[in-house]
Amino acid sequence: MRVGVPTEIKPDEYRVALTPAGARELAEHGHPVLVQSGAGEGSSIADADYAAQGARIVPDAETVFAEAELVLGVKEPQPSEVRLLRPGQTLFTYLHLAPTPELTRALCETGAICIAYETVGDAHGRLPLLAPMSEVAGKIATQAGAFMLEKPLGGRGVLLGGVPGVAAGNVMVIGGGVVGFHAASIAIGMEADVFVFDRDLDRLRELDVAFGGRASTVYSSTLSIEEMLPRADLVIGAVLVHGARAPYVIKREQLSLMKSRAVLVDVSIDQGGCFETSRPTTHSDPTFVVDGITHYCVTNMPGAVPITSTHALTNATLPYLLALADHGVRGAIERDPGLRSGINVARGRVTHAAVAEGTGMAFTPVEEALGPQSSVLDT
Ligand SMILES: NC(=O)c1ccc[n+]([C@@H]2O[C@H](COP(=O)([O-])OP(=O)(O)OC[C@H]3O[C@@H](n4cnc5c(N)ncnc54)[C@H](O)[C@@H]3O)[C@@H](O)[C@H]2O)c1
Repeated sequence: MRVGVPTEIKPDEYRVALTPAGARELAEHGHPVLVQSGAGEGSSIADADYAAQGARIVPDAETVFAEAELVLGVKEPQPSEVRLLRPGQTLFTYLHLAPTPELTRALCETGAICIAYETVGDAHGRLPLLAPMSEVAGKIATQAGAFMLEKPLGGRGVLLGGVPGVAAGNVMVIGGGVVGFHAASIAIGMEADVFVFDRDLDRLRELDVAFGGRASTVYSSTLSIEEMLPRADLVIGAVLVHGARAPYVIKREQLSLMKSRAVLVDVSIDQGGCFETSRPTTHSDPTFVVDGITHYCVTNMPGAVPITSTHALTNATLPYLLALADHGVRGAIERDPGLRSGINVARGRVTHAAVAEGTGMAFTPVEEALGPQSSVLDT
């Protein structure tokens, strides 16, 4: 199967979907790899590094999309890329479709099969292709929040760790999954007072053990959140309902409970945002202020540290893309039901229930959307 890697074109995105190590593995499995010239530049990977592992360097995205049967990405395809997708092609990338009906409809119109990293599951109900970027985003969330609390950046002017004789700042993390755990770990490392909110009691038990008493765990409810908001200097939103649009855990009227120039970091912004007042921002212009509260809502936080993120992402995606290239979509999902749940759109239909619900579009089971197999080379 011909595998293509275009350069990411979302603003401030420097990751790339394949490393030279991945190109080598694909080559050893007999799959030709096309890499757009410059695709690895943002992650300090030169064209020559890919070529040395057997990849062919092509000049533009048009060539990648025209020739590749399996197109790899990092962020959701931008309009110029959607126009290049075609039936018979498979796209494997982050999609975050539940809050974006326009993109979902546009992908349906291409006739391609679109597999979202973030909804691929494993046997334990975890999200193995979201996890590495959630680890990175969680760590950045606390770093960025701490920075935005500095006075010259418009913050309250609070040092999260405090100093002897002056109390530490309060960090509230809502959603104690992968992002929340890593955000809290960094906040603990900075010596802040940390409170992690979640609705899953088993998860709170795990966090309680993992933090060894260095953070408080709190059952998340409207009241418990409202009780904490007046004390919080930094609030990190990290909730997720798999595949679905993020629920609002802080409404606009609740901002008035907070201290002036406290900071909200909405990591869940890629799933539509978990604060009512959030809207997507970029690394170039990451914050805005609503009702005196600084909001940081960057949709591709790991893009800021591409060298770390590219390697973390591709370590996780490589086994899946080898499976797709070796066995085609049908063969790969037969072998791994977790990969099946990654298929969000197939041949004009929405094939993920939470995406269908989020976009208000009809749901079609994957096998029905794929239709009967027409040839051995079929997906
Ligand atoms: N902005 C970015 O660059 C970026 C990068 C990586 C991940 N993310 C996003 O971060 C979010 C979290 O990802 P994750 O990997 O940590 O997910 P996860 O599934 O590991 O954790 C989500 C947690 O939220 C909890 N939760 C769900 N609803 C809740 C509610 N109403 N109140 C409190 N807790 C609730 C769940 O119990 C779970 O523990 C996702 O939306 C993901 O897409 C964003």
